Amino acid sequence: MPTTVSTNRADKVIDRCLRLASFSEDSEGTRRTFLSPPTRDCHLEIARWLSPLGVQARIDAAGNLHALYPAAQANAPHLLIGSHLDTVPNAGAYDGILGVVLAIALLEELQGRKLPFAVEVVGFSEEEGVRFGTPFIGSCALVGRLDQKLLEVHDAQGISVRKAIEEFGLNPEEIPQAELGNDALGYLEFHIEQGPVLESLSQPLAAVDAIAGQSRLEFTFLGRANHAGTTPMHLRCDAIAGAAEWIGAVERVAQGVPGLVATVGKLEAKPGAVNVIAAEACLTLDVRHSSDDVRTHAVEDLIRQAQEIAARRGLSVQENTLLSQRTIAMDPFLIGEIEQALRKTGCKPHRMVSGAGHDAMILAEKVPAAMIFLRTPRGISHDPAESVAAADVEKAIECGLHLLDQLASSPEFHKRINRA
Ligand code: GLV
Ligand code: MN
Ligand code: MN
Repeated sequence: MPTTVSTNRADKVIDRCLRLASFSEDSEGTRRTFLSPPTRDCHLEIARWLSPLGVQARIDAAGNLHALYPAAQANAPHLLIGSHLDTVPNAGAYDGILGVVLAIALLEELQGRKLPFAVEVVGFSEEEGVRFGTPFIGSCALVGRLDQKLLEVHDAQGISVRKAIEEFGLNPEEIPQAELGNDALGYLEFHIEQGPVLESLSQPLAAVDAIAGQSRLEFTFLGRANHAGTTPMHLRCDAIAGAAEWIGAVERVAQGVPGLVATVGKLEAKPGAVNVIAAEACLTLDVRHSSDDVRTHAVEDLIRQAQEIAARRGLSVQENTLLSQRTIAMDPFLIGEIEQALRKTGCKPHRMVSGAGHDAMILAEKVPAAMIFLRTPRGISHDPAESVAAADVEKAIECGLHLLDQLASSPEFHKRINRA
């Protein structure tokens, strides 16, 4: 278990995360989806924290917050540090947010000292995929992948990504300008682990060596609505019953393969009345594994099983792939530097694969990317009970400061600075 040591700077980080959690679309609990009104409050609050550092926040056309802490010399390239500012429904206070708030804490701890590279804090507008079903909208803009197709994806209210951007007062035509240039040296993300591994190992921090790939799909089982009292069981085309049989298959497939996880996280049925056999059942599927082959085979198997179940029950089924994201390795040089910083912080340089998706896996397409995980008490995340120990936040700040100092004096990093 983490010790109860806490420091003012760690407490301040935690207080700030809790403050941002109060900016919510729901009156009870935290829910902040892509460019919803509370996102603006979040941006304004962060800008207020940055102002004493003489650092200005700006919002790019995809709704990402950026704040540049200058280098010792003008026009030096920059290292990005950040995470996402959107949340799942009924969220905790730390997923994503902690990475942005820790980045600001590191700038504060520099106390005006300038490095041979600039540091850019980034708060991504969308990572969770809650509003549009498609995650990583913010980070896709930074790697030049927020294209026409993604802009035309619609939310449950029929509002497109493009329209949401316009309604926030931004210009989607300016999205190409958000793409990172050659002056981006890399991306560093602090994030809670969101699982129980570090706690079980009594480790406060770890370096991430890879982020597991993930597939996200929507399935729609189509049957025939009919009277619940008059239709004999053998003459029904019940979309919910077909979907339920398939959900059992999802669980069995994942249980049969080490490391595979598969989740049906959302289920909606129509017409949705107690005395009507369902005509339609729409479900989501989320499949993850560190091997892309294992993941894609599992998805193919589950599509085949959905078709087989539907055919046997007189239903039809359609599937739509929302995301197929491969497993991404983090940058070996940055991992090595993080391990050294972990040692200096008094932590074992533990490495682990992330089962959760992160903006770092998108940024890695364009720049060297790395992550530092903080232990998650009881492994609970995506829930209001999500927490972090102040002592672990303190270690993360220490580790981050060691890392910045190491990079500032690293010959290899200087080569990267000179090349940029
Ligand atoms: C992000 O939280 C994910 O779904 O991995
Ligand atoms: Mn999350
Ligand atoms: Mn996250």
